Amino acid sequence: MNTQTLKATLPLLLVVGLVYLILSPSKYVGYAPEQPIPYNHKLHAGDLKIDCRYCHVAVDKSAHATVPPSATCMNCHGILNAASNHPDVQKMKRWYEEKKPIQWIKIHDQPDFVFFNHAAHINRGVDCSKCHGMIPEMEKVMQVESLNMGYCVNCHRENNAPNDCSTCHR
Ligand code: HEC
Ligand code: HEC
Ligand code: HEC
Ligand code: HEC
Ligand code: HEC
Repeated sequence: MNTQTLKATLPLLLVVGLVYLILSPSKYVGYAPEQPIPYNHKLHAGDLKIDCRYCHVAVDKSAHATVPPSATCMNCHGILNAASNHPDVQKMKRWYEEKKPIQWIKIHDQPDFVFFNHAAHINRGVDCSKCHGMIPEMEKVMQVESLNMGYCVNCHRENNAPNDCSTCHR
């Protein structure tokens, strides 16, 4: 290959590379780490039908959904003594008394150069399951959608949501 053809194909190679990066499947699909306390969404949000917002209080008010402090769990596992014989509940209560916060491992995680906003979606009626799958059926949370750029941009196109680069990259 001479320098002339190399110069001509280089921009093309860069574009192909970028498109590949953007469309490549996320390595995070299927990510379901062990948590310090095996918290069960199927039991709490499914069987007991506790509303998502009871714990993820900021999801319709801010960019972040937030994960609840142990105090929220203690509403039922404290005085009400729900499942008080269960070893995981006993561990949680011991940590709570020792004022040791539960170090939950983050599952869905966007790179810092991506701006995401929960409230913008929830207030437009986009359901949690669109991006997180059927959480009320999961004993252990697992990432089920790539949440990569193609995933975001396609849905924005279908819903006439803003799609210029600055919407998601600031
Ligand atoms: C009683 C409290 C509680 C309720 C109710 C609850 N969650 Fe959670 N949620 C948690 C806790 C604690 C975690 C962190 C541990 C984990 O990942 O399982 C979490 C984690 C998550 C995560 C993963 C967060 C991450 O790190 O990426 C998603 C998504 C989620 N919840 C969605 C939901 C949805 C949707 C509902 C309603 C169907 C719901 N949750 C109901 C307490 C709750
Ligand atoms: C609205 C009440 C309520 C809240 C809030 C709540 N739980 Fe529970 N939890 C229950 C009940 C009721 C059970 C027992 C269900 C059964 O045994 O049938 C339970 C069971 C459990 C168990 C035993 C595991 C199992 O599979 O039986 C663990 C661990 C647990 N909860 C952790 C948590 C954590 C961590 C939080 C906070 C993020 C939390 N719970 C918040 C009501 C609650
Ligand atoms: C349009 C897609 C989308 C919808 C709809 C959505 N989420 Fe998320 N969620 C995400 C993304 C993306 C992240 C990772 C955000 C980050 O890393 O900044 C996330 C992260 C989370 C987290 C981890 C804590 C945080 O704020 O980063 C929780 C908990 C959560 N979502 C709960 C919910 C609940 C509950 C609902 C419905 C009420 C919901 N999500 C709806 C895409 C979505
Ligand atoms: C299920 C469809 C869907 C998915 C998937 C989705 N979005 Fe959205 N997004 C919307 C809709 C609808 C709006 C609201 C547009 C409006 O209010 O006009 C929105 C709004 C936004 C906004 C606020 C725009 C503004 O300026 O008001 C941001 C930022 C955003 N989305 C980022 C993302 C990112 C990043 C992802 C991927 C992680 C994503 N979205 C995935 C449908 C989606
Ligand atoms: C609706 C939201 C959204 C819009 C609009 C958007 N992006 Fe992205 N972009 C993302 C997300 C989410 C990622 C992170 C993908 C991942 O982590 O897999 C990303 C990643 C990237 C990356 C890094 C490549 C990679 O896959 O890691 C580049 C470069 C990029 N975007 C450029 C752009 C440009 C240029 C535009 C405008 C033409 C644009 N983006 C518009 C959401 C968006």
